[in-house]
Amino acid sequence: MVNGDFVVKFYNEVIAGLSQYPKRLPSKYFYDATGDNLFQQIMHSPDYYVTRCELEIFTTQLPEMTKLVIKDGSPFDLIELGPGDCYKSIHLMKELTRLETDFNYLPIDISGAVLDQINTTLPPLLPNMPVQCMNGEYFQMLSKAKWYSSNRKVVLCLGGNIGNMTVEESHTFCKALHKHLNPGDLVIIGFDLVKNPNVIRTAYYDREGITSLFNLNLLERINQELEGNFNLNDFEHYCSYEPETGACKSFLVCLADRIVRIRNKEIIFKKDEYIWMEISQKYNPGQISEMALSNGFKPIGNLMDSKRWFADACWEVI
Ligand SMILES: C[S@@+](CC[C@H](N)C(=O)[O-])C[C@H]1O[C@@H](n2cnc3c(N)ncnc32)[C@H](O)[C@@H]1O
Repeated sequence: MVNGDFVVKFYNEVIAGLSQYPKRLPSKYFYDATGDNLFQQIMHSPDYYVTRCELEIFTTQLPEMTKLVIKDGSPFDLIELGPGDCYKSIHLMKELTRLETDFNYLPIDISGAVLDQINTTLPPLLPNMPVQCMNGEYFQMLSKAKWYSSNRKVVLCLGGNIGNMTVEESHTFCKALHKHLNPGDLVIIGFDLVKNPNVIRTAYYDREGITSLFNLNLLERINQELEGNFNLNDFEHYCSYEPETGACKSFLVCLADRIVRIRNKEIIFKKDEYIWMEISQKYNPGQISEMALSNGFKPIGNLMDSKRWFADACWEVI
């Protein structure tokens, strides 16, 4: 997406979200250079178990995952949706390269800054692996990526990515993913699993307050890129986790009556009114299989960490 188109879409979606009740902002806009950096700090924070669990899967269960991905040995395109800094997928790429596997790597991310980071860090580590970065939204770019070569496709969507959608949005996402792929293609999707609610809530209410900065950074981004005038001191981070639905939600609560201007648009905030910033949906294994089967995929298996807190679900397109 060229920058002008991006800004128009960003503005329209921000105004639409802040004009509805309750107010909502799309979390995909968290990721500018500062947001990428804050997310990378969250990944390494002691309270955020998600990255550690998935890293364990990508290290201890690498032989099994590699075997699945290599399949019959035919060449493939490894497409990663929202790779961030490839902290976990790099282990798979290194192993595939060590085994002299014939594949191309196509990371798709809405953040141009994170793709610049990938373009700087990957080539020195894996000089023989062809990399084609694609800057834009998942399906806008997947519709181009699928024509990159006639190879079969292996799609990765790791970490919190699918969790950042509601259950309904995840089903829509899986249906769209299926439409872009062919029978026999493989997808590996990370799902955070239900567990002790206190463990989950603490991960998104970290003691260092990085999640709070991560949320507030979107208001700062709106100030910078859309001529907004949010005063960040007027907003406070709040997080809830509901064990009955598996929905962990982040909010920014407005501490006083305020009128915020974004370009020529005025947004009225009442004291204690909140903006819903992000969802991090948790699943049980039954819901994961159901999501595969109802959207055209055959579940092959769930690779899990030793605590069984996180699953990388492997599905084949039927
Ligand atoms: C929660 S981070 C996870 C990064 C990585 N998957 C991991 O597990 O470490 C989400 C990543 O997906 C990207 N992203 C979020 N929504 C997106 C969208 N709709 N289209 C493309 N990229 C998106 C973000 O820029 C960010 O790099």
